[in-house]
Amino acid sequence: MQAKLVEKFKELFGADGEIRTYFAPGRVNMIGEHTDYNGGHVFPCALTIGTYGVVRKREDNKLRFYSMNFENLGIIESSLGDLKPDPTADWTNYPKGVIWAFGEKGMKITQGMDLLLFGNIPNGSGLSSSASVEVLTGYILKDFYGCDVSNQDIALIGQFSENQFNGVNCGIMDQFAIAMGKKGHAIFLDTATLEYEYAPIALKDAKIVISCSNKKRGLGDSKYNERRAECEKALEEIQQFAGINSLGDLTEEEFEQFQTAIKDEDRKKRAKHAVYENQRTVRAVEALKHDDVELFGKLMNESHVSLRDDYEVTGIELDTLVEEAWKIDGVIGSRMTGAGFGGCSVSIVKNDAVDTFIEQVGKAYEEKIGYAADFYVVEIGDGPSRLA
Ligand code: GLA
Repeated sequence: MQAKLVEKFKELFGADGEIRTYFAPGRVNMIGEHTDYNGGHVFPCALTIGTYGVVRKREDNKLRFYSMNFENLGIIESSLGDLKPDPTADWTNYPKGVIWAFGEKGMKITQGMDLLLFGNIPNGSGLSSSASVEVLTGYILKDFYGCDVSNQDIALIGQFSENQFNGVNCGIMDQFAIAMGKKGHAIFLDTATLEYEYAPIALKDAKIVISCSNKKRGLGDSKYNERRAECEKALEEIQQFAGINSLGDLTEEEFEQFQTAIKDEDRKKRAKHAVYENQRTVRAVEALKHDDVELFGKLMNESHVSLRDDYEVTGIELDTLVEEAWKIDGVIGSRMTGAGFGGCSVSIVKNDAVDTFIEQVGKAYEEKIGYAADFYVVEIGDGPSRLA
Protein backbone atom coordinates (compact mmCIF):
# COMPACT_ATOMS: atom_id res chain seq x y z
CA MET A 1 0.00 0.00 0.00
CA GLN A 2 2.77 2.43 0.97
CA ALA A 3 4.48 1.91 -2.40
CA LYS A 4 1.24 2.69 -4.21
CA LEU A 5 0.83 5.94 -2.29
CA VAL A 6 4.40 7.06 -3.01
CA GLU A 7 3.92 6.22 -6.67
CA LYS A 8 0.75 8.32 -6.81
CA PHE A 9 2.54 11.15 -5.00
CA LYS A 10 5.37 11.17 -7.57
CA GLU A 11 2.89 11.10 -10.41
CA LEU A 12 1.12 14.19 -9.02
CA PHE A 13 3.96 16.17 -7.51
CA GLY A 14 7.15 14.88 -9.17
CA ALA A 15 9.86 12.59 -7.82
CA ASP A 16 12.60 14.99 -6.71
CA GLY A 17 13.68 15.79 -3.15
CA GLU A 18 13.16 13.90 0.08
CA ILE A 19 9.77 12.22 0.30
CA ARG A 20 8.58 10.78 3.60
CA THR A 21 5.61 8.64 4.59
CA TYR A 22 3.72 8.92 7.88
CA PHE A 23 0.75 7.28 9.56
CA ALA A 24 -1.69 8.45 12.25
CA PRO A 25 -4.45 6.19 13.60
CA GLY A 26 -8.17 6.71 14.04
CA ARG A 27 -9.70 6.13 17.46
CA VAL A 28 -12.64 4.49 19.14
CA ASN A 29 -13.91 5.48 22.57
CA MET A 30 -14.85 2.49 24.74
CA ILE A 31 -16.71 4.52 27.38
CA GLY A 32 -16.86 8.11 28.71
CA GLU A 33 -18.85 9.99 26.08
CA HIS A 34 -19.42 13.75 26.08
CA THR A 35 -17.41 13.95 29.30
CA ASP A 36 -14.22 15.44 27.87
CA TYR A 37 -15.50 19.02 27.76
CA ASN A 38 -17.08 18.52 31.18
CA GLY A 39 -13.86 17.84 33.08
CA GLY A 40 -14.56 14.11 33.21
CA HIS A 41 -12.83 10.87 32.25
CA VAL A 42 -12.65 9.14 28.89
CA PHE A 43 -11.37 5.72 27.85
CA PRO A 44 -10.49 5.71 24.14
CA CYS A 45 -7.94 3.74 22.14
CA ALA A 46 -6.09 4.26 18.88
CA LEU A 47 -6.83 1.86 16.03
CA THR A 48 -4.64 0.20 13.43
CA ILE A 49 -6.70 1.88 10.72
CA GLY A 50 -6.03 5.56 10.11
CA THR A 51 -4.52 8.10 7.74
CA TYR A 52 -1.39 7.71 5.62
CA GLY A 53 0.46 10.83 4.48
CA VAL A 54 3.19 11.14 1.85
CA VAL A 55 4.92 14.49 2.10
CA ARG A 56 7.71 16.68 0.77
CA LYS A 57 8.89 20.08 1.99
CA ARG A 58 8.86 22.84 -0.58
CA GLU A 59 11.28 25.73 -1.04
CA ASP A 60 8.45 28.26 -1.53
CA ASN A 61 5.41 28.92 0.65
CA LYS A 62 2.87 26.93 -1.37
CA LEU A 63 0.68 24.24 0.18
CA ARG A 64 -0.52 21.56 -2.22
CA PHE A 65 -2.86 18.89 -0.89
CA TYR A 66 -4.36 15.81 -2.50
CA SER A 67 -6.55 13.11 -0.96
CA MET A 68 -7.02 9.70 -2.51
CA ASN A 69 -10.36 9.58 -0.67
CA PHE A 70 -11.60 12.64 -2.58
CA GLU A 71 -9.91 12.26 -5.93
CA ASN A 72 -12.67 14.27 -7.61
CA LEU A 73 -11.44 17.36 -5.74
CA GLY A 74 -8.01 17.15 -7.39
CA ILE A 75 -5.05 19.08 -5.98
CA ILE A 76 -6.18 21.82 -3.60
CA GLU A 77 -3.71 24.68 -3.33
CA SER A 78 -3.18 27.46 -0.86
CA SER A 79 -0.20 29.15 0.74
CA LEU A 80 1.41 29.84 4.09
CA GLY A 81 0.63 33.50 3.53
CA ASP A 82 -3.08 32.78 3.41
CA LEU A 83 -3.94 30.53 6.36
CA LYS A 84 -7.64 31.25 6.76
CA PRO A 85 -10.55 28.80 6.99
CA ASP A 86 -12.05 28.49 3.53
CA PRO A 87 -15.31 26.56 3.00
CA THR A 88 -14.31 25.80 -0.60
CA ALA A 89 -11.03 24.23 0.59
CA ASP A 90 -12.91 21.23 1.98
CA TRP A 91 -10.85 18.74 4.04
CA THR A 92 -7.64 20.75 3.57
CA ASN A 93 -8.91 23.08 6.31
CA TYR A 94 -7.68 20.41 8.76
CA PRO A 95 -3.98 20.36 7.80
CA LYS A 96 -4.11 24.12 7.15
CA GLY A 97 -5.63 24.67 10.59
CA VAL A 98 -2.81 22.76 12.26
CA ILE A 99 -0.11 24.67 10.35
CA TRP A 100 -1.86 27.90 11.39
CA ALA A 101 -2.11 26.70 15.01
CA PHE A 102 1.63 25.93 15.17
CA GLY A 103 2.21 29.54 14.08
CA GLU A 104 -0.12 30.82 16.80
CA LYS A 105 1.91 28.82 19.33
CA GLY A 106 5.14 30.50 18.23
CA MET A 107 6.25 27.89 15.68
CA LYS A 108 5.73 29.67 12.39
CA ILE A 109 6.14 27.36 9.41
CA THR A 110 8.04 29.03 6.57
CA GLN A 111 8.42 26.21 4.06
CA GLY A 112 5.40 24.94 2.15
CA MET A 113 4.55 21.29 1.49
CA ASP A 114 3.15 18.81 -0.97
CA LEU A 115 0.98 16.33 0.89
CA LEU A 116 -0.92 13.30 -0.35
CA LEU A 117 -3.31 11.57 2.04
CA PHE A 118 -5.07 8.28 2.06
CA GLY A 119 -7.32 7.21 4.91
CA ASN A 120 -8.77 3.78 5.53
CA ILE A 121 -11.07 5.07 8.29
CA PRO A 122 -14.59 5.49 6.93
CA ASN A 123 -15.08 9.28 6.61
CA GLY A 124 -17.53 10.96 8.97
CA SER A 125 -17.97 7.64 10.75
CA GLY A 126 -17.20 8.92 14.23
CA LEU A 127 -13.78 7.26 14.29
CA SER A 128 -12.12 10.67 14.13
CA SER A 129 -10.84 10.87 10.59
CA SER A 130 -10.44 14.62 11.08
CA ALA A 131 -8.44 14.36 14.31
CA SER A 132 -6.33 11.72 12.59
CA VAL A 133 -5.46 14.21 9.83
CA GLU A 134 -4.72 16.88 12.44
CA VAL A 135 -2.38 14.66 14.43
CA LEU A 136 -0.73 13.41 11.24
CA THR A 137 -0.02 17.02 10.21
CA GLY A 138 1.29 17.88 13.67
CA TYR A 139 3.55 14.85 13.66
CA ILE A 140 4.95 15.83 10.24
CA LEU A 141 5.70 19.31 11.57
CA LYS A 142 7.49 17.72 14.52
CA ASP A 143 9.43 15.02 12.70
CA PHE A 144 10.11 16.59 9.29
CA TYR A 145 10.01 20.32 10.01
CA GLY A 146 11.79 19.97 13.36
CA CYS A 147 9.18 21.66 15.58
CA ASP A 148 10.02 21.01 19.21
CA VAL A 149 6.78 19.49 20.52
CA SER A 150 5.75 16.35 22.40
CA ASN A 151 2.95 14.11 21.18
CA GLN A 152 0.78 15.56 23.93
CA ASP A 153 1.48 19.06 22.57
CA ILE A 154 0.44 17.82 19.12
CA ALA A 155 -2.88 16.71 20.62
CA LEU A 156 -3.46 20.07 22.29
CA ILE A 157 -2.50 22.05 19.19
CA GLY A 158 -4.76 19.79 17.10
CA GLN A 159 -7.69 20.51 19.41
CA PHE A 160 -6.87 24.23 19.35
CA SER A 161 -6.96 24.22 15.55
CA GLU A 162 -10.24 22.30 15.46
CA ASN A 163 -11.79 24.79 17.93
CA GLN A 164 -10.36 28.02 16.52
CA PHE A 165 -9.88 27.29 12.83
CA ASN A 166 -12.58 24.74 12.07
CA GLY A 167 -15.19 26.01 14.49
CA VAL A 168 -15.97 22.76 16.31
CA ASN A 169 -15.81 23.19 20.05
CA CYS A 170 -14.54 19.63 20.63
CA GLY A 171 -12.81 18.38 23.77
CA ILE A 172 -9.35 16.84 23.91
CA MET A 173 -10.29 13.16 23.67
CA ASP A 174 -9.84 12.44 19.95
CA GLN A 175 -6.53 14.17 19.40
CA PHE A 176 -5.16 12.79 22.67
CA ALA A 177 -6.23 9.22 21.93
CA ILE A 178 -4.59 9.41 18.51
CA ALA A 179 -1.38 11.22 19.45
CA MET A 180 -0.79 9.09 22.57
CA GLY A 181 -2.09 5.73 21.32
CA LYS A 182 -0.48 2.50 22.47
CA LYS A 183 -0.89 -0.94 20.92
CA GLY A 184 -3.21 -3.21 22.92
CA HIS A 185 -4.11 -0.44 25.41
CA ALA A 186 -6.87 2.05 26.01
CA ILE A 187 -6.05 5.41 27.61
CA PHE A 188 -7.78 6.29 30.86
CA LEU A 189 -7.60 10.07 30.69
CA ASP A 190 -8.73 12.62 33.22
CA THR A 191 -9.58 15.54 30.94
CA ALA A 192 -9.52 18.00 33.85
CA THR A 193 -5.81 17.45 34.56
CA LEU A 194 -4.60 15.50 31.50
CA GLU A 195 -3.30 12.82 33.84
CA TYR A 196 -3.56 9.48 32.10
CA GLU A 197 -2.88 5.82 32.48
CA TYR A 198 -2.65 3.03 29.90
CA ALA A 199 -4.92 0.06 30.61
CA PRO A 200 -4.40 -3.17 28.68
CA ILE A 201 -7.44 -4.38 26.76
CA ALA A 202 -6.74 -8.08 26.84
CA LEU A 203 -9.92 -9.64 25.50
CA LYS A 204 -9.06 -13.32 25.45
CA ASP A 205 -12.15 -14.70 23.79
CA ALA A 206 -13.78 -11.55 22.41
CA LYS A 207 -13.26 -8.88 19.78
CA ILE A 208 -14.04 -5.20 19.37
CA VAL A 209 -16.55 -4.75 16.56
CA ILE A 210 -17.41 -1.37 15.14
CA SER A 211 -20.73 -0.97 13.37
CA CYS A 212 -20.86 2.03 11.09
CA SER A 213 -24.33 3.49 10.55
CA ASN A 214 -23.38 5.15 7.24
CA LYS A 215 -25.60 8.05 8.19
CA LYS A 216 -23.87 11.08 6.76
CA ARG A 217 -23.09 13.84 9.18
CA GLY A 218 -20.46 16.44 9.98
CA LEU A 219 -19.65 17.48 13.52
CA GLY A 220 -19.93 21.15 12.59
CA ASP A 221 -23.54 20.93 11.53
CA SER A 222 -24.55 18.57 14.33
CA LYS A 223 -25.89 19.60 17.67
CA TYR A 224 -22.48 19.11 19.26
CA ASN A 225 -21.82 22.75 20.09
CA GLU A 226 -25.38 23.08 21.42
CA ARG A 227 -24.88 20.21 23.88
CA ARG A 228 -21.67 21.74 25.06
CA ALA A 229 -23.38 25.08 25.67
CA GLU A 230 -26.19 23.35 27.61
CA CYS A 231 -23.63 21.75 29.93
CA GLU A 232 -21.81 25.02 30.46
CA LYS A 233 -25.04 26.74 31.43
CA ALA A 234 -25.99 23.92 33.82
CA LEU A 235 -22.56 24.17 35.41
CA GLU A 236 -23.02 27.91 35.99
CA GLU A 237 -26.36 27.25 37.66
CA ILE A 238 -24.87 24.64 40.00
CA GLN A 239 -21.87 26.83 40.73
CA GLN A 240 -24.15 29.29 42.49
CA PHE A 241 -24.49 26.67 45.20
CA ALA A 242 -21.36 24.51 44.96
CA GLY A 243 -17.70 25.39 44.54
CA ILE A 244 -16.94 23.13 41.58
CA ASN A 245 -14.89 23.68 38.43
CA SER A 246 -16.70 21.25 36.17
CA LEU A 247 -19.53 18.73 36.13
CA GLY A 248 -16.84 16.07 36.37
CA ASP A 249 -16.21 17.19 39.96
CA LEU A 250 -19.59 15.88 41.11
CA THR A 251 -20.55 12.44 42.38
CA GLU A 252 -24.01 11.13 41.54
CA GLU A 253 -25.20 11.94 45.09
CA GLU A 254 -23.92 15.50 44.88
CA PHE A 255 -25.63 15.95 41.54
CA GLU A 256 -28.95 14.79 42.97
CA GLN A 257 -28.52 17.29 45.76
CA PHE A 258 -27.77 20.25 43.47
CA GLN A 259 -29.84 19.45 40.39
CA THR A 260 -32.74 21.66 41.48
CA ALA A 261 -30.48 24.62 40.68
CA ILE A 262 -30.81 23.78 36.97
CA LYS A 263 -33.83 25.65 35.70
CA ASP A 264 -34.54 23.70 32.54
CA GLU A 265 -35.51 20.02 32.25
CA ASP A 266 -33.46 19.31 29.11
CA ARG A 267 -30.41 20.97 30.60
CA LYS A 268 -30.87 18.91 33.74
CA LYS A 269 -30.80 15.71 31.69
CA ARG A 270 -27.65 16.79 29.86
CA ALA A 271 -25.85 17.54 33.11
CA LYS A 272 -27.05 14.30 34.64
CA HIS A 273 -25.53 12.36 31.77
CA ALA A 274 -22.21 14.20 32.12
CA VAL A 275 -21.99 13.41 35.83
CA TYR A 276 -23.21 9.80 35.70
CA GLU A 277 -21.20 8.94 32.60
CA ASN A 278 -18.03 10.19 34.24
CA GLN A 279 -18.60 8.06 37.34
CA ARG A 280 -19.53 5.11 35.12
CA THR A 281 -16.25 5.46 33.24
CA VAL A 282 -14.22 5.37 36.45
CA ARG A 283 -16.11 2.25 37.54
CA ALA A 284 -15.73 0.60 34.14
CA VAL A 285 -11.96 0.97 34.15
CA GLU A 286 -11.89 -0.38 37.69
CA ALA A 287 -13.90 -3.40 36.52
CA LEU A 288 -11.47 -4.02 33.69
CA LYS A 289 -8.55 -3.90 36.10
CA HIS A 290 -10.26 -6.71 38.00
CA ASP A 291 -10.72 -8.63 34.76
CA ASP A 292 -14.49 -8.16 35.01
CA VAL A 293 -15.28 -7.74 31.32
CA GLU A 294 -18.95 -8.58 31.96
CA LEU A 295 -19.36 -5.58 34.25
CA PHE A 296 -17.47 -3.41 31.78
CA GLY A 297 -19.97 -4.47 29.11
CA LYS A 298 -22.94 -3.77 31.34
CA LEU A 299 -21.64 -0.25 31.96
CA MET A 300 -21.22 0.23 28.19
CA ASN A 301 -24.91 -0.63 27.79
CA GLU A 302 -25.88 1.83 30.53
CA SER A 303 -23.79 4.47 28.82
CA HIS A 304 -25.82 4.04 25.64
CA VAL A 305 -29.13 4.33 27.49
CA SER A 306 -27.97 7.56 29.09
CA LEU A 307 -26.78 8.96 25.73
CA ARG A 308 -30.12 7.97 24.22
CA ASP A 309 -32.51 9.18 26.92
CA ASP A 310 -30.71 11.98 28.75
CA TYR A 311 -28.12 13.36 26.35
CA GLU A 312 -30.26 12.63 23.29
CA VAL A 313 -27.48 12.22 20.76
CA THR A 314 -28.18 8.74 19.38
CA GLY A 315 -30.97 8.74 16.81
CA ILE A 316 -32.74 5.81 15.20
CA GLU A 317 -29.68 4.56 13.30
CA LEU A 318 -27.41 4.16 16.35
CA ASP A 319 -30.27 2.93 18.53
CA THR A 320 -31.06 0.23 15.99
CA LEU A 321 -27.44 -0.91 15.77
CA VAL A 322 -27.12 -1.10 19.54
CA GLU A 323 -30.53 -2.50 20.40
CA GLU A 324 -30.14 -5.24 17.78
CA ALA A 325 -26.68 -6.01 19.15
CA TRP A 326 -28.07 -6.41 22.68
CA LYS A 327 -30.36 -9.18 21.41
CA ILE A 328 -27.46 -11.40 20.41
CA ASP A 329 -25.94 -14.02 22.69
CA GLY A 330 -22.25 -13.39 23.05
CA VAL A 331 -22.49 -9.59 23.01
CA ILE A 332 -20.80 -8.44 26.20
CA GLY A 333 -21.58 -4.76 25.72
CA SER A 334 -22.62 -2.35 22.99
CA ARG A 335 -23.00 1.42 22.80
CA MET A 336 -22.73 4.37 20.45
CA THR A 337 -19.24 5.88 20.32
CA GLY A 338 -17.97 9.37 19.50
CA ALA A 339 -20.16 12.44 19.14
CA GLY A 340 -23.30 10.56 18.08
CA PHE A 341 -25.97 11.80 15.64
CA GLY A 342 -24.92 9.03 13.24
CA GLY A 343 -21.43 7.59 13.16
CA CYS A 344 -20.62 4.26 14.80
CA SER A 345 -21.35 1.94 17.65
CA VAL A 346 -18.72 -0.12 19.45
CA SER A 347 -19.42 -3.62 20.74
CA ILE A 348 -17.47 -6.27 22.59
CA VAL A 349 -18.45 -9.56 21.01
CA LYS A 350 -17.40 -13.12 21.88
CA ASN A 351 -15.26 -14.59 19.09
CA ASP A 352 -17.76 -17.27 18.18
CA ALA A 353 -20.62 -14.76 17.94
CA VAL A 354 -18.93 -12.26 15.60
CA ASP A 355 -20.29 -13.75 12.37
CA THR A 356 -23.84 -14.00 13.74
CA PHE A 357 -23.54 -10.44 15.03
CA ILE A 358 -22.58 -9.03 11.66
CA GLU A 359 -25.23 -11.02 9.86
CA GLN A 360 -28.14 -10.35 12.22
CA VAL A 361 -27.44 -6.74 13.12
CA GLY A 362 -26.72 -6.05 9.45
CA LYS A 363 -29.99 -7.59 8.31
CA ALA A 364 -32.16 -5.91 10.93
CA TYR A 365 -30.49 -2.55 10.30
CA GLU A 366 -31.02 -2.63 6.58
CA GLU A 367 -34.65 -3.68 6.99
CA LYS A 368 -35.41 -0.87 9.40
CA ILE A 369 -33.21 1.95 8.08
CA GLY A 370 -33.31 1.21 4.37
CA TYR A 371 -29.58 1.09 3.69
CA ALA A 372 -26.72 -1.10 4.89
CA ALA A 373 -24.36 -0.68 7.83
CA ASP A 374 -20.67 -1.63 7.63
CA PHE A 375 -18.84 -3.71 10.19
CA TYR A 376 -15.18 -3.65 11.19
CA VAL A 377 -13.41 -6.02 13.55
CA VAL A 378 -10.67 -3.71 14.82
CA GLU A 379 -7.32 -3.92 16.61
CA ILE A 380 -5.85 -1.39 19.00
CA GLY A 381 -2.73 0.23 17.57
CA ASP A 382 0.01 2.76 18.30
CA GLY A 383 0.05 6.54 17.90
CA PRO A 384 1.55 8.40 14.92
CA SER A 385 4.76 7.26 13.28
CA ARG A 386 7.08 7.75 10.33
CA LEU A 387 7.06 4.71 8.10
CA ALA A 388 10.35 3.28 6.86
C1 GLA B 1 -16.33 14.12 19.49
C2 GLA B 1 -15.39 15.17 20.07
C3 GLA B 1 -14.73 14.70 21.35
C4 GLA B 1 -15.79 14.18 22.34
C5 GLA B 1 -16.75 13.21 21.66
C6 GLA B 1 -17.90 12.81 22.56
O1 GLA B 1 -15.61 12.99 19.10
O2 GLA B 1 -14.38 15.50 19.13
O3 GLA B 1 -13.96 15.73 21.92
O4 GLA B 1 -16.47 15.24 22.94
O5 GLA B 1 -17.30 13.75 20.47
O6 GLA B 1 -17.45 12.08 23.63
